[in-house]
Amino acid sequence: MPHTLTLRRPDDWHLHLRDGAMLQGVIGDTSRTFARAIIMPNLVPPVVTTDDAAAYKARILSALPKGHSFQPLMTLYLTEHTSPDDVEKGKASGLVTAVKLYPAGATTNSHDGVRDMDKAMPVLERMAKIGLPLCVHGEVTTPEVDIFDREAVFIETVLDPLRRRLPELKVTMEHVTTEDGIDYIKGAEKNLAGTITTHHLIINRNAILVGGIKPHYYCLPVAKREKHRLALRKAAVSGDARFFLGTDSAPHVDPLKECACGCAGIYTSINTMSCLAHVFEEENALDKLEAFASLNGPAWYGLPVNEEKITLTKREEPVRFPAKIETGAGPVTVFDPLFPLYWDVSE
Ligand code: NCD
Ligand code: ZN
Repeated sequence: MPHTLTLRRPDDWHLHLRDGAMLQGVIGDTSRTFARAIIMPNLVPPVVTTDDAAAYKARILSALPKGHSFQPLMTLYLTEHTSPDDVEKGKASGLVTAVKLYPAGATTNSHDGVRDMDKAMPVLERMAKIGLPLCVHGEVTTPEVDIFDREAVFIETVLDPLRRRLPELKVTMEHVTTEDGIDYIKGAEKNLAGTITTHHLIINRNAILVGGIKPHYYCLPVAKREKHRLALRKAAVSGDARFFLGTDSAPHVDPLKECACGCAGIYTSINTMSCLAHVFEEENALDKLEAFASLNGPAWYGLPVNEEKITLTKREEPVRFPAKIETGAGPVTVFDPLFPLYWDVSE
């Protein structure tokens, strides 16, 4: 087994950076290791227009630690009132990389999302025409549907009909958490890819519920049973170009997670590459980590791969990550994979 691994600098194709003091507190954990990230638009209020995205991008760049070069790839939050012309303007100016669909009520700050897909059709048709990808939070919100089935039901009742209606629309199914999602992506002939998070490769739903309720393992889409985790791992390490990393690192301050109605989100920006090297080594697939973290994403989004490299080194002693990071907004608990991590990012 090799003890060092050099990869092209990775990118994160699904990231929550938030704003203000939280943005300031978390951005360095991403920009230290990643060259680019697709930035989620679910701020309060959301990033809906091209002007909103330009202003948010400027705030992100001004929060960057000195010496870090990092490119935020901006997304627009799709609403039922989004203007097709504004979306086209965003793509034409090079500012907007994708548009994000949150079914209304599916997750954190999604109440302004889409209730009726018909109302979003003019924008989606324009996106298909101009080649702008749609990033999808793939869960239905219908109260009758069990939370563990929401991804599978979304594929059947929303995603597949949409893709049949608009086969030219490029869709990124984000944070796939089920075998159903993996199979659906594998079965698609074109215009469909999926991101997989770090934590869904490591935990199943027991992490949240066994031995007491563990809010720091709660995220959306919620972790599923073990057979789904195994299917995600198989896809991630396969080298299949349709699967790539989107950490979905989603910081919330501890008081908002450790309470009677805790927020969904797991913070992994700081230890993602160590966790992934561990997973890929366990799967005897360290040679596929570069495809997953650094090559497949740019290919899907039609962007150049990063020229810079990073080196991962396997240490004799476990690498220590803080249990929490302190931000100006408050403490944020770091994802604990519940096993020691030996792989370290050494530039
Ligand atoms: C995300 C957040 O906190 O913004 N939470 C999460 O559990 N992943 C929203 C999301 O991506 O669903
Ligand atoms: Zn997310």
